[in-house]
Amino acid sequence: MTGSHDGILDTHESILDSTECFRPGPGGLAGWLADRALAAAPFAMGVLRHVAPIAGRGAFWVVTRYDDVREVFATDSVFGVPYAENLAVITGGAPFFLGLPDSPAYRAQLAAMQAVMRPGDLARLGDAAEARAAALLAGAGPQVDVVAFVRQVTFGLLGDYLGVPEPDRGSLATWGTRLFVFQFTGSVSDAAWRNETQVIATALRTHIDAVIEARKSGRGRVDDVLERCLALQDRGVPGYGDVEIRTALLCMIVGGPPQPPMVLPQAMEQLLRRPDWLARARRAARRGDDADLHAIVIEAMRFDPLAPGLPRKVLKTATLAAGTAREREIPEGATVIAAFASAMMDASRIPEPGVFNPNRLPHEYIHFGHGLHECFGRFINHATLHRMLKPLLAAGRLGRAPGVDGHLRKRGAFADRLLVSVGA
Ligand code: HEM
Repeated sequence: MTGSHDGILDTHESILDSTECFRPGPGGLAGWLADRALAAAPFAMGVLRHVAPIAGRGAFWVVTRYDDVREVFATDSVFGVPYAENLAVITGGAPFFLGLPDSPAYRAQLAAMQAVMRPGDLARLGDAAEARAAALLAGAGPQVDVVAFVRQVTFGLLGDYLGVPEPDRGSLATWGTRLFVFQFTGSVSDAAWRNETQVIATALRTHIDAVIEARKSGRGRVDDVLERCLALQDRGVPGYGDVEIRTALLCMIVGGPPQPPMVLPQAMEQLLRRPDWLARARRAARRGDDADLHAIVIEAMRFDPLAPGLPRKVLKTATLAAGTAREREIPEGATVIAAFASAMMDASRIPEPGVFNPNRLPHEYIHFGHGLHECFGRFINHATLHRMLKPLLAAGRLGRAPGVDGHLRKRGAFADRLLVSVGA
């Protein structure tokens, strides 16, 4: 083998074995500026919401009002998802419904997954989320990094539910998170990033293929998503070929568990800034009032949600907010950012948006998108997110760790570290 091959292999090995969930960012001034720009996004979006609610020209637009963000998401025949190209790098070319327009293929894939990820599972998932978090906390020291904590709980929980165990090397958490970051912030024209993604994606696909093969010779011992898929495959039901099962499991791992370790540490940071609400969340956790705890966590997430916005590609020139003073024509080919974080702060629809109020109505939240591509995992999220934080919140003592580590640190849009002190 030549030296240059060795070099490539070394690089592949180190990518697969890395415990880093994020590739090194631009660093230096560029990294600092990118972080500052993201940190300033809520303020900038707030200004736009008042002075130019549909802002932009030519190829790039930002939409910041609640009604207009919902219109963008709801009008998927005009504002299409731009995800297919990056997804193909991850799936090896197989389509997945997140990247598809409304079509028979989209509906068939969605239905195939709805048949195996069922409402009847939610209570069990909620209980398992809390049990995993409690067990992890019991073995933890006096300081807990909320990001790593939630990451471990959520990947374990969903890996088990889907039927995908940890690979022999690397981990679902690092591979899944790196693929997620590429999916939503990477570009296929960045050759180094694309190649690195291909290495990880190929390893994860190979792992899932091996898991499917192994399960075929040991059936009927567990009731998980893979087992249900194979049972439908046995009966010849369309939509459950090996590649379709692998693609669905892969995309659920990449699309789902990387997100609770973003939004929950952000919600915890918001609670730490509001001692009265933190105290109420802790009381709810201690007396097992899951409904109150759910409402508080979902409201805390509104002050720092998943991301400032989600992108859409304009498929044909369209008028947005037609008939209002905001009305703008957006040209075919443009990218539109539907700023759902801003929408959840829009006083024209959200009463007193700056006030922390867990009694809001469900439609006032857009945490999980809206319309055709609204999060497939939203019911799982409502059943599990607050339950993952519950044992931490119920601890006898909980507060920020001393120093900067006790304040949420982000890498771009991604929560990276938040250290809390806990005690019995
Ligand atoms: C904190 C947790 C989560 C958040 C904040 C979240 C957020 C979102 C959002 C905003 C979208 C819409 C994307 C768009 O319209 O561009 C979405 C879609 C999706 N989510 Fe989630 N998600 C979470 C967890 C999960 C979980 C646990 C799963 C699966 C187990 C999942 C599976 C999906 C899938 C498959 C889609 C695509 C739906 C479609 O195209 O019809 N998500 N998610």
